[in-house]
Amino acid sequence: MGIPNELSELAPVQQAPKRWDDYIRRDRVHRELYTEDRIFQEEMIKVFGQTWVYLAHESQLPEPNSFLSVRMGLRPIIVTKDRKGVIHAVFNRCSHRAATLCREESGVAKSFQCPYHGWTFRNTGELVGAPWPQGYADFDKSEFDLGKVSRVETYRGFIFGTLNENAPTLEDHLGNARPWLDYWIDRAPEGEVIVNSGAHRMGYRGNWKLAYDNAGDGYHPSFSHRSLLEMASRLGDSKDMSYFGKTPDDGAMSIHSLGNGHSVLDQRPNFDGPGSIWENQRPQPGREWFEEMIREKYPDDADRLLDVCAGAQINLSIFPNLLLIGNQIQVIEPLAVDRTQLTWNATTIGGVPDEINTMRMRTQEDFPAFGEPDDQANFEEVQRGLAVPEAEWILMNRGLDVEDWQELSENGVIKSAVTDEIHMRSYYGEWLRLMNGEK
Ligand code: FES
Ligand SMILES: [Fe+2]
Repeated sequence: MGIPNELSELAPVQQAPKRWDDYIRRDRVHRELYTEDRIFQEEMIKVFGQTWVYLAHESQLPEPNSFLSVRMGLRPIIVTKDRKGVIHAVFNRCSHRAATLCREESGVAKSFQCPYHGWTFRNTGELVGAPWPQGYADFDKSEFDLGKVSRVETYRGFIFGTLNENAPTLEDHLGNARPWLDYWIDRAPEGEVIVNSGAHRMGYRGNWKLAYDNAGDGYHPSFSHRSLLEMASRLGDSKDMSYFGKTPDDGAMSIHSLGNGHSVLDQRPNFDGPGSIWENQRPQPGREWFEEMIREKYPDDADRLLDVCAGAQINLSIFPNLLLIGNQIQVIEPLAVDRTQLTWNATTIGGVPDEINTMRMRTQEDFPAFGEPDDQANFEEVQRGLAVPEAEWILMNRGLDVEDWQELSENGVIKSAVTDEIHMRSYYGEWLRLMNGEK
């Protein structure tokens, strides 16, 4: 008798599908979307080039001639503010022999000199000159300006870029995500959001879409973040996020498919009335003393001020790379098919006393340090699991065709129970549109 071959019961390894539509079914996606380098390379051109990609926040360019190094897919980009205050996004790629020009994360510079052979460019991308031009028989400077992200637009401080001349306006692209972004921004009394200079960066060995799959996922918290929830529930029944640990679909939380690949997970119905977001936060050192002090100093405004110390209670995912989680801006930066960097930027807000921003910062230290490693461990383990070629499909069928879960509103937004995987199904629709080259 031979050794039983357990694998023979699994699907035989099949020829890779050929058309993009073959990778995505109504209820599942093919593993190769997460494992194949050739697909990743094409995504970097078609997804991270042809739709609006989040680049930076205006507050990161505080004065004329400020710059910031970012990425648009794999393209290194310098976002600059010129001396007149106009924002540009240029390729960080010398037009001589391709070296990156700017190797700093941020700063102030009117021009950039390439460290390799000294070509110099203005922060608008224009070539100022090349050393010893007599060495060129025929040299028209204007042909060698830096490549530019052809369209750069800003929505209330959020700067996006696209290489697609036919893309809709940024406002149209944000579409039904706009009111949610407005809510997030308008928690600041004057709508002023400031990104602080430092960032919390984490790299994981997994595909970039694993982070996007997770941001709107209301199914995982009670399992992935069990230790966090247990700690919270030891301190009371309704502390922040512990509501995920019961039967989340029976509650009032919801997931909304907003169109264009965007989605939002709304936790706000767990809270009622001014002060309740603060009231239900996880423990923080000094919070009792802090609350007393705020109530004494600002008796008429204390509930509102305390609530903005805590997170916004929404997870807003703006396809393909911007996630607003709590009070933080998280950017997904793909590095390779199985390597990704996540950058978390904490924010402060204008129009509130300094001590509110200090406490807000303490809140923002909590989840990236304590919860995010749970998620990233799972991203890496999914990537490891995906190494089984015989098991081809990843499911995203939770909520599909379940009676009474989904509600369609007039503007096309679909609202569903919080553990519905509709956020995945809807962004894969947008992914497919882009990969098929539809404008
Ligand atoms: S590569 Fe930049 S000057 Fe040569
Ligand atoms: Fe999570």
